[in-house]
Amino acid sequence: MVRPDRLLCRGFRQPVTEMLLASTYPSPVSDHRPLARPHQRFTDDGRRVSEVLTYARRGSRFTPSQQGSWDAHQQDWVIPDAAVDGAGFDLADVFGRRAPLIVEIGSGIGEATAALAAQRPDHDILAFEVWRPGVAHTLGLLAGAGASNVRLLGVDAVWSMEHLIAPGQLEELWTFFPDPWPKTKHHKRRIVNPEFARLAASRLKPGGVWRLATDWAAYAERMVAVLDQEPGLLGGRVERWADRPVTKFERKGVAVERDIVDLRYVAR
Ligand SMILES: C[S@@+](CC[C@H](N)C(=O)[O-])C[C@H]1O[C@@H](n2cnc3c(N)ncnc32)[C@H](O)[C@@H]1O
Repeated sequence: MVRPDRLLCRGFRQPVTEMLLASTYPSPVSDHRPLARPHQRFTDDGRRVSEVLTYARRGSRFTPSQQGSWDAHQQDWVIPDAAVDGAGFDLADVFGRRAPLIVEIGSGIGEATAALAAQRPDHDILAFEVWRPGVAHTLGLLAGAGASNVRLLGVDAVWSMEHLIAPGQLEELWTFFPDPWPKTKHHKRRIVNPEFARLAASRLKPGGVWRLATDWAAYAERMVAVLDQEPGLLGGRVERWADRPVTKFERKGVAVERDIVDLRYVAR
């Protein structure tokens, strides 16, 4: 039987990797990428340029179950990092169709991704996660949920939002339980900051929605302060989004009696 995810690739039984190599579509953003992605920037004398990133590097070892999921689905659902380096990278090739696009940043082990994607077969969901075991785990959940409309990318989401997503391209942006970076000296690593808010507002289509959730009270306050200041966004605290499944990070927060805060901002 032909698997539905393969059918999505314009009727060809080709995995994501081959579709990208065969791509003839122009990039929706630009054919030129002057700035290399994070971890690829070097000074003229060959030293790595230090970068402020919103994530920490974590272990890359798979459990046997994650390895099985990776082997079964990585070729179809994971976009190779290097694919974004070439001119002409186009998400239509990756998904095998053009459909309303949702981006999730920091999908973790994919609990929210799989459940929400399965409810939205008419949307494409691009999930950014730099932690490989989380990506492998997600693949297993996607297969279990029958969600073939998700592609995972392990390249920094901040860089990718700027370079791979066109202005006005997003229906929705999801940022659930982003790393809170609680120490003051690390606040500069928080993904919700004025520069990223500007970028996110520009990538959402008018009326597009940015949904956020956190269990970190101080970060929630900061998020509201930052997002309220962004002229391209309108919104604030809302009731818990009923569609959003409880994830590992929400369970951890609830276990230590933290309040969970949901935010919803609409692009003007
Ligand atoms: C605290 S976890 C939350 C995971 C998930 N959303 C949940 O609710 O369980 C945050 C995740 O975001 C990922 N992350 C942070 N910054 C990122 C970035 N710039 N690009 C891609 N992934 C990122 C981290 O690797 C981490 O797995």
